[in-house]
Amino acid sequence: MAQTLVEHAVDIIRSNDQGAYTVPTHGLYPFQWNWDSALTALGIAFYDEERAWVELTTLMNHQWDDGMVPHIVFHKEDEGYFPGPDVWQTKRKTPTSGISQPPVAGFAARKLFERAKDKTRGTAQARAMLPKIDAWHDWFYRCRDPEGTGLVALIHPWESGRDNSVDWDAAFQRVPTDGVMPFQRRDLQHADASHRPTQAQYERYIYLVQLFRSLGWDNAKLHAASPFQIVDPGFNAILIRSCSDLAKLADDLGEPEIAARNRARAEKGVAAMETLWSDAHNQYLCYDRKVDQPVDNPSIAGLLAAVAPIPPNRAKEIGERILELGESCRYLVPSQPATSPHFDGKRYWRGPVWLIVNYLISDGLKCAGEDGVAQRIISDSLELISNSGFAEYYHPISGEPCGGKSFTWTAAMVIEFMTQSDTQK
Ligand code: SER
Repeated sequence: MAQTLVEHAVDIIRSNDQGAYTVPTHGLYPFQWNWDSALTALGIAFYDEERAWVELTTLMNHQWDDGMVPHIVFHKEDEGYFPGPDVWQTKRKTPTSGISQPPVAGFAARKLFERAKDKTRGTAQARAMLPKIDAWHDWFYRCRDPEGTGLVALIHPWESGRDNSVDWDAAFQRVPTDGVMPFQRRDLQHADASHRPTQAQYERYIYLVQLFRSLGWDNAKLHAASPFQIVDPGFNAILIRSCSDLAKLADDLGEPEIAARNRARAEKGVAAMETLWSDAHNQYLCYDRKVDQPVDNPSIAGLLAAVAPIPPNRAKEIGERILELGESCRYLVPSQPATSPHFDGKRYWRGPVWLIVNYLISDGLKCAGEDGVAQRIISDSLELISNSGFAEYYHPISGEPCGGKSFTWTAAMVIEFMTQSDTQK
């Protein structure tokens, strides 16, 4: 009998399972990535609740003393990845990178808790997780929003997960490459060069790592010192949603102080998001803190914002904008509009469709009652999988699978799309 999509997805996650964490895919990403892991936990919970909590717990066990949760945990040595621990030099017992990633842990922990069949275990695990995630949220607002605007800035494109987005192009012209170490990229041994960021972008990624390393990874200094400071509406929306979900989780667990702190962060964040809205583009835009100007590019960052509890009129406008994007591409939601002069349908975040973003946007739109658009995004996502397999990302016009193969979080999102229908407000 033919294997169902869900069975295939489970097999992929199991094949990438390292015992206490899951690699995104063998070869290209041989360690634990932060938001990959937290979203993967949702897929794992479908077949092994206990293992799902282990995935999140392993990630949170590598939290820094200041509250930061790093974007990569280098559990084992692997020469096949660059930049490895010798470049980051964060001096952790188990090496980690020195920057963070979209904080989906609060969002995932609430879902795991509410869906838990074993309530005793779910309560104990969620209770252990609560203060750690709260400390991570506190870290973001303390270190990346020093002026208390309600919105945090990224100091490295890798923090967004959207490494080579068009959103960073102008800011990257201001990131120098003087003194960048000679290096050999490893990603091109595992993936097609035309699907990946360019050499010029890699030089700037490494410049920023070397700069932060020279400051001893002291988060009291990094935001001010970084030539790259971008307020990303998608990233902030994920943080806001996680704060809001953590507040609800804390209510359920009888932790009113954690609940109040996180509710206040979410409310302030939602109000501040309004400053990123563009009437001209009918969506949110990034904001470049270094030059004090919006980034005039209508990327998926401004649509991912739908994952936060934004006002209903904004969710509706985002839904309309997404349908409009569908007029120039076959599969929603492209990371850059297909009509944009910068569109590159195979190159990472300059056009391709990513299932995790589709999942987060559709979850937010369902919460806002925009079910029609949400369903269209879900059906496009599942069609991509049926036609092109479980890739890292897909060309939004041809559906060509791109990047890594047998991809963990893509599989996890398929399980979510096919087995869950909860919407949480
Ligand atoms: N996404 C980056 C990479 O491709 C790092 O997180 O290696």
